[in-house]
Amino acid sequence: MNNDNQILKVRDLIVDFPIFGGIMQKKVDAVHAVRKVSFDLFKGETLGIVGESGSGKSTLGNSILNVLKLTAPDVHIDGEIFLNINDVSVDILNLEKSKMKQYRKHIQMIFQDPYSSLNPRMLVKDIVKESLDINSILTESQKMEKVFWLLDKVGLSSEQSSRYPHEFSGGQRQRIGIARALATEPEIIIADEPVSALDVSIQAQIINLMMDLQKEFKLSILFIAHDLSVVKHISDRVGVMNLGELVEINKTSDIFNNPMHSYTKELLRAIPEPDPEGREERKKSRLSIK
Ligand SMILES: Nc1ncnc2c1ncn2[C@@H]1O[C@H](COP(=O)(O)OP(=O)(O)O)[C@@H](O)[C@H]1O
Ligand SMILES: [Mg+2]
Repeated sequence: MNNDNQILKVRDLIVDFPIFGGIMQKKVDAVHAVRKVSFDLFKGETLGIVGESGSGKSTLGNSILNVLKLTAPDVHIDGEIFLNINDVSVDILNLEKSKMKQYRKHIQMIFQDPYSSLNPRMLVKDIVKESLDINSILTESQKMEKVFWLLDKVGLSSEQSSRYPHEFSGGQRQRIGIARALATEPEIIIADEPVSALDVSIQAQIINLMMDLQKEFKLSILFIAHDLSVVKHISDRVGVMNLGELVEINKTSDIFNNPMHSYTKELLRAIPEPDPEGREERKKSRLSIK
Protein backbone atom coordinates (compact mmCIF):
# COMPACT_ATOMS: atom_id res chain seq x y z
CA MET A 1 0.00 0.00 0.00
CA ASN A 2 0.99 3.59 -0.64
CA ASN A 3 2.86 5.14 2.25
CA ASP A 4 0.67 8.24 2.23
CA ASN A 5 -2.28 6.05 3.01
CA GLN A 6 -1.59 5.61 6.69
CA ILE A 7 -4.29 7.01 8.90
CA LEU A 8 -2.36 5.99 12.01
CA LYS A 9 1.36 5.53 12.50
CA VAL A 10 2.41 3.97 15.80
CA ARG A 11 6.13 4.18 16.54
CA ASP A 12 8.11 2.58 19.38
CA LEU A 13 5.14 2.55 21.72
CA ILE A 14 6.02 1.59 25.27
CA VAL A 15 3.53 1.27 28.13
CA ASP A 16 4.65 0.41 31.66
CA PHE A 17 2.30 0.07 34.62
CA PRO A 18 3.92 0.68 38.00
CA ILE A 19 3.75 -1.98 40.70
CA PHE A 20 3.55 -0.57 44.20
CA GLY A 21 4.77 -2.37 47.29
CA GLY A 22 5.90 -2.08 50.89
CA ILE A 23 4.33 -0.13 53.71
CA MET A 24 4.84 3.15 51.91
CA GLN A 25 3.30 1.76 48.71
CA LYS A 26 6.26 2.96 46.69
CA LYS A 27 6.85 1.96 43.13
CA VAL A 28 8.87 -1.25 43.34
CA ASP A 29 8.63 -2.56 39.80
CA ALA A 30 6.71 -2.17 36.54
CA VAL A 31 4.65 -4.33 34.21
CA HIS A 32 5.98 -3.85 30.69
CA ALA A 33 2.60 -4.22 29.00
CA VAL A 34 3.61 -2.86 25.56
CA ARG A 35 7.27 -3.06 24.51
CA LYS A 36 8.35 -0.88 21.60
CA VAL A 37 5.48 -1.61 19.26
CA SER A 38 5.44 -0.01 15.80
CA PHE A 39 2.86 -0.47 13.05
CA ASP A 40 0.74 1.40 10.52
CA LEU A 41 -3.00 1.39 10.08
CA PHE A 42 -3.94 2.17 6.49
CA LYS A 43 -7.04 4.00 5.35
CA GLY A 44 -9.96 1.63 4.89
CA GLU A 45 -8.21 -1.49 6.17
CA THR A 46 -8.96 -3.78 9.06
CA LEU A 47 -5.89 -4.71 11.04
CA GLY A 48 -6.49 -7.64 13.38
CA ILE A 49 -4.46 -7.72 16.59
CA VAL A 50 -4.27 -11.14 18.22
CA GLY A 51 -2.49 -12.67 21.19
CA GLU A 52 -3.19 -14.47 24.43
CA SER A 53 -4.83 -12.80 27.39
CA GLY A 54 -2.32 -10.44 29.03
CA SER A 55 -0.23 -9.92 25.89
CA GLY A 56 -0.94 -6.17 25.87
CA LYS A 57 -3.67 -5.88 23.23
CA SER A 58 -6.08 -3.77 25.26
CA THR A 59 -3.25 -1.60 26.56
CA LEU A 60 -2.20 -0.97 22.97
CA GLY A 61 -5.77 -0.07 21.94
CA ASN A 62 -6.34 2.11 24.99
CA SER A 63 -3.10 4.01 24.61
CA ILE A 64 -4.12 5.15 21.13
CA LEU A 65 -6.92 7.20 22.62
CA ASN A 66 -4.78 8.05 25.63
CA VAL A 67 -7.38 6.44 27.85
CA LEU A 68 -4.60 5.05 30.03
CA LYS A 69 -3.43 8.42 31.25
CA LEU A 70 -6.95 9.03 32.46
CA THR A 71 -7.43 5.70 34.19
CA ALA A 72 -4.10 4.46 35.53
CA PRO A 73 -2.03 6.62 37.87
CA ASP A 74 1.70 6.89 37.12
CA VAL A 75 1.42 4.88 33.93
CA HIS A 76 4.46 5.47 31.76
CA ILE A 77 3.76 5.85 28.04
CA ASP A 78 6.46 6.57 25.50
CA GLY A 79 6.67 6.67 21.72
CA GLU A 80 4.65 8.35 19.02
CA ILE A 81 1.16 7.88 17.61
CA PHE A 82 0.57 9.96 14.50
CA LEU A 83 -3.00 10.51 13.40
CA ASN A 84 -3.26 11.62 9.79
CA ILE A 85 -6.47 13.55 9.12
CA ASN A 86 -6.96 15.77 6.05
CA ASP A 87 -3.25 15.45 5.19
CA VAL A 88 -2.20 16.81 8.57
CA SER A 89 -0.24 14.46 10.81
CA VAL A 90 -0.50 15.00 14.58
CA ASP A 91 1.22 13.04 17.35
CA ILE A 92 -1.85 12.45 19.50
CA LEU A 93 0.09 10.58 22.17
CA ASN A 94 2.11 13.63 23.11
CA LEU A 95 -0.70 16.16 22.98
CA GLU A 96 -1.96 18.00 26.02
CA LYS A 97 -5.25 16.64 27.32
CA SER A 98 -7.06 19.83 26.39
CA LYS A 99 -5.98 19.45 22.77
CA MET A 100 -6.82 15.73 22.71
CA LYS A 101 -10.52 16.53 22.75
CA GLN A 102 -10.69 17.75 19.18
CA TYR A 103 -9.22 14.46 17.92
CA ARG A 104 -11.46 12.17 19.94
CA LYS A 105 -14.25 12.21 17.39
CA HIS A 106 -11.97 10.77 14.72
CA ILE A 107 -11.31 7.62 16.76
CA GLN A 108 -14.03 5.65 18.52
CA MET A 109 -13.93 2.48 20.57
CA ILE A 110 -16.15 -0.57 20.72
CA PHE A 111 -15.71 -2.66 23.84
CA GLN A 112 -15.88 -6.33 24.65
CA ASP A 113 -18.62 -6.13 27.19
CA PRO A 114 -21.72 -4.48 25.80
CA TYR A 115 -23.32 -5.03 29.21
CA SER A 116 -21.07 -2.76 31.21
CA SER A 117 -20.20 -0.22 28.52
CA LEU A 118 -23.78 1.03 28.08
CA ASN A 119 -25.29 3.18 30.82
CA PRO A 120 -28.21 1.09 32.16
CA ARG A 121 -30.21 4.16 33.15
CA MET A 122 -30.22 5.73 29.71
CA LEU A 123 -32.59 5.00 26.85
CA VAL A 124 -30.92 3.58 23.76
CA LYS A 125 -31.64 6.72 21.75
CA ASP A 126 -30.00 8.89 24.40
CA ILE A 127 -26.95 6.62 24.52
CA VAL A 128 -26.45 7.03 20.78
CA LYS A 129 -27.26 10.75 20.92
CA GLU A 130 -24.85 11.53 23.76
CA SER A 131 -21.78 12.11 21.59
CA LEU A 132 -23.85 14.21 19.17
CA ASP A 133 -24.76 16.44 22.11
CA ILE A 134 -21.06 16.99 22.76
CA ASN A 135 -19.71 17.12 19.25
CA SER A 136 -22.24 18.43 16.81
CA ILE A 137 -23.99 21.60 15.86
CA LEU A 138 -27.17 19.82 14.80
CA THR A 139 -30.58 20.87 16.09
CA GLU A 140 -32.40 18.53 18.45
CA SER A 141 -34.65 17.14 15.73
CA GLN A 142 -31.70 16.69 13.35
CA LYS A 143 -29.90 14.78 16.10
CA MET A 144 -32.87 12.47 16.61
CA GLU A 145 -33.09 11.91 12.89
CA LYS A 146 -29.43 10.94 12.86
CA VAL A 147 -29.92 8.61 15.86
CA PHE A 148 -32.70 6.73 14.08
CA TRP A 149 -30.65 6.59 10.90
CA LEU A 150 -27.66 5.16 12.83
CA LEU A 151 -29.84 2.60 14.62
CA ASP A 152 -31.29 1.54 11.28
CA LYS A 153 -27.73 1.09 9.95
CA VAL A 154 -26.98 -1.40 12.72
CA GLY A 155 -30.31 -3.21 12.33
CA LEU A 156 -32.37 -1.72 15.16
CA SER A 157 -35.79 -0.12 14.77
CA SER A 158 -36.88 3.31 15.98
CA GLU A 159 -39.37 1.60 18.35
CA GLN A 160 -36.44 -0.17 20.01
CA SER A 161 -34.74 3.15 20.64
CA SER A 162 -37.08 3.97 23.51
CA ARG A 163 -35.96 0.97 25.54
CA TYR A 164 -33.17 0.44 28.05
CA PRO A 165 -30.02 -1.62 27.35
CA HIS A 166 -31.07 -4.49 29.65
CA GLU A 167 -34.04 -5.18 27.39
CA PHE A 168 -31.68 -6.31 24.62
CA SER A 169 -29.63 -9.42 23.92
CA GLY A 170 -25.82 -9.32 23.92
CA GLY A 171 -25.65 -9.08 20.13
CA GLN A 172 -28.19 -6.27 20.04
CA ARG A 173 -26.31 -4.40 22.73
CA GLN A 174 -23.17 -4.63 20.67
CA ARG A 175 -25.18 -3.13 17.78
CA ILE A 176 -26.08 -0.24 20.07
CA GLY A 177 -22.39 0.20 20.94
CA ILE A 178 -21.52 0.28 17.25
CA ALA A 179 -24.22 2.88 16.50
CA ARG A 180 -22.88 5.00 19.34
CA ALA A 181 -19.34 4.69 17.98
CA LEU A 182 -20.42 5.75 14.50
CA ALA A 183 -22.28 8.86 15.70
CA THR A 184 -19.26 11.16 15.48
CA GLU A 185 -18.44 9.93 11.95
CA PRO A 186 -15.04 8.54 12.99
CA GLU A 187 -12.36 7.51 10.53
CA ILE A 188 -10.95 4.92 12.92
CA ILE A 189 -12.68 2.30 15.07
CA ILE A 190 -10.78 0.45 17.77
CA ALA A 191 -12.77 -2.68 18.57
CA ASP A 192 -11.44 -4.44 21.67
CA GLU A 193 -12.70 -8.03 21.59
CA PRO A 194 -16.08 -6.88 20.27
CA VAL A 195 -17.48 -10.38 19.83
CA SER A 196 -15.68 -12.32 22.56
CA ALA A 197 -18.61 -12.11 24.98
CA LEU A 198 -21.15 -13.24 22.37
CA ASP A 199 -22.44 -16.69 21.35
CA VAL A 200 -20.62 -18.09 18.34
CA SER A 201 -23.81 -17.87 16.24
CA ILE A 202 -24.09 -14.16 17.01
CA GLN A 203 -20.39 -13.44 16.49
CA ALA A 204 -20.65 -13.88 12.72
CA GLN A 205 -23.60 -11.48 12.53
CA ILE A 206 -21.68 -8.73 14.31
CA ILE A 207 -18.53 -9.33 12.24
CA ASN A 208 -20.58 -9.17 9.03
CA LEU A 209 -22.24 -5.98 10.22
CA MET A 210 -18.85 -4.42 10.93
CA MET A 211 -17.59 -5.44 7.48
CA ASP A 212 -20.65 -3.85 5.83
CA LEU A 213 -20.28 -0.64 7.83
CA GLN A 214 -16.58 -0.49 7.08
CA LYS A 215 -17.28 -0.52 3.36
CA GLU A 216 -20.07 2.02 3.60
CA PHE A 217 -18.19 4.48 5.81
CA LYS A 218 -14.65 3.68 4.62
CA LEU A 219 -13.55 2.97 8.17
CA SER A 220 -10.11 1.92 9.31
CA ILE A 221 -10.54 -0.72 12.01
CA LEU A 222 -8.18 -2.06 14.63
CA PHE A 223 -9.85 -5.34 15.52
CA ILE A 224 -8.50 -6.86 18.73
CA ALA A 225 -9.18 -10.50 19.59
CA HIS A 226 -7.49 -13.32 21.52
CA ASP A 227 -8.62 -15.81 18.90
CA LEU A 228 -7.07 -15.94 15.42
CA SER A 229 -10.15 -17.56 13.90
CA VAL A 230 -12.24 -14.52 14.86
CA VAL A 231 -10.06 -12.05 12.95
CA LYS A 232 -9.57 -14.26 9.88
CA HIS A 233 -12.55 -13.07 7.84
CA ILE A 234 -12.58 -9.42 8.78
CA SER A 235 -8.85 -8.58 8.66
CA ASP A 236 -6.79 -7.44 5.70
CA ARG A 237 -3.68 -7.83 7.82
CA VAL A 238 -3.02 -9.38 11.20
CA GLY A 239 -0.54 -8.40 13.91
CA VAL A 240 0.43 -10.96 16.52
CA MET A 241 1.28 -9.84 20.06
CA ASN A 242 3.19 -11.87 22.60
CA LEU A 243 4.30 -10.56 26.00
CA GLY A 244 3.88 -6.95 24.94
CA GLU A 245 5.71 -7.27 21.64
CA LEU A 246 4.32 -7.27 18.14
CA VAL A 247 6.14 -10.38 16.96
CA GLU A 248 4.69 -10.58 13.46
CA ILE A 249 2.50 -8.46 11.20
CA ASN A 250 1.49 -9.53 7.73
CA LYS A 251 -1.32 -10.02 5.25
CA THR A 252 -4.01 -12.29 6.70
CA SER A 253 -3.43 -15.00 4.09
CA ASP A 254 0.31 -15.05 4.89
CA ILE A 255 -0.31 -15.22 8.63
CA PHE A 256 -2.55 -18.26 8.12
CA ASN A 257 -0.68 -20.01 5.28
CA ASN A 258 2.90 -18.99 5.87
CA PRO A 259 3.42 -17.89 9.48
CA MET A 260 6.98 -16.80 10.18
CA HIS A 261 7.12 -16.54 13.95
CA SER A 262 6.98 -19.61 16.18
CA TYR A 263 4.39 -17.96 18.41
CA THR A 264 2.08 -17.35 15.42
CA LYS A 265 2.44 -21.05 14.55
CA GLU A 266 1.49 -21.93 18.11
CA LEU A 267 -1.61 -19.72 17.94
CA LEU A 268 -2.59 -21.37 14.66
CA ARG A 269 -2.29 -24.82 16.19
CA ALA A 270 -4.69 -23.75 18.92
CA ILE A 271 -7.51 -23.06 16.44
CA PRO A 272 -10.10 -25.86 16.66
CA GLU A 273 -10.08 -28.17 13.65
CA PRO A 274 -12.95 -30.41 12.61
CA ASP A 275 -10.84 -33.63 12.50
CA PRO A 276 -10.28 -35.70 15.65
CA GLU A 277 -6.50 -35.69 15.16
CA GLY A 278 -6.48 -31.94 15.25
CA ARG A 279 -8.37 -32.10 18.50
CA GLU A 280 -5.77 -34.39 19.99
CA GLU A 281 -3.05 -31.99 18.95
CA ARG A 282 -4.82 -29.21 20.74
CA LYS A 283 -5.07 -31.14 23.98
CA LYS A 284 -1.33 -31.66 23.89
CA SER A 285 -0.62 -28.05 23.08
CA ARG A 286 0.55 -26.13 26.11
CA LEU A 287 -1.13 -23.02 24.81
CA SER A 288 -4.53 -22.41 26.34
CA ILE A 289 -6.69 -19.89 24.63
CA LYS A 290 -9.67 -18.88 26.71
N1 LIG B 1 -4.41 -0.51 34.62
C1 LIG B 1 -3.45 -1.44 34.76
N2 LIG B 1 -2.63 -1.42 35.84
C2 LIG B 1 -1.65 -2.34 36.00
N3 LIG B 1 -1.40 -3.31 35.11
C3 LIG B 1 -2.18 -3.41 34.02
C4 LIG B 1 -3.26 -2.47 33.78
N4 LIG B 1 -3.85 -2.81 32.62
C5 LIG B 1 -3.20 -3.89 32.14
N5 LIG B 1 -2.20 -4.26 32.97
C6 LIG B 1 -1.25 -5.37 32.77
O1 LIG B 1 -0.65 -5.20 31.48
C7 LIG B 1 -0.52 -6.44 30.83
C8 LIG B 1 -1.28 -6.41 29.51
O2 LIG B 1 -2.67 -6.37 29.78
P1 LIG B 1 -3.77 -6.14 28.65
O3 LIG B 1 -3.35 -5.04 27.78
O4 LIG B 1 -5.07 -6.04 29.33
O5 LIG B 1 -3.67 -7.51 27.84
P2 LIG B 1 -4.73 -8.19 26.84
O6 LIG B 1 -5.73 -7.18 26.44
O7 LIG B 1 -3.91 -8.72 25.72
O8 LIG B 1 -5.36 -9.32 27.62
C9 LIG B 1 -1.03 -7.50 31.80
O9 LIG B 1 0.08 -8.01 32.50
C10 LIG B 1 -1.94 -6.71 32.71
O10 LIG B 1 -1.99 -7.30 33.98
MG1 LIG C 1 -7.82 -7.21 26.58
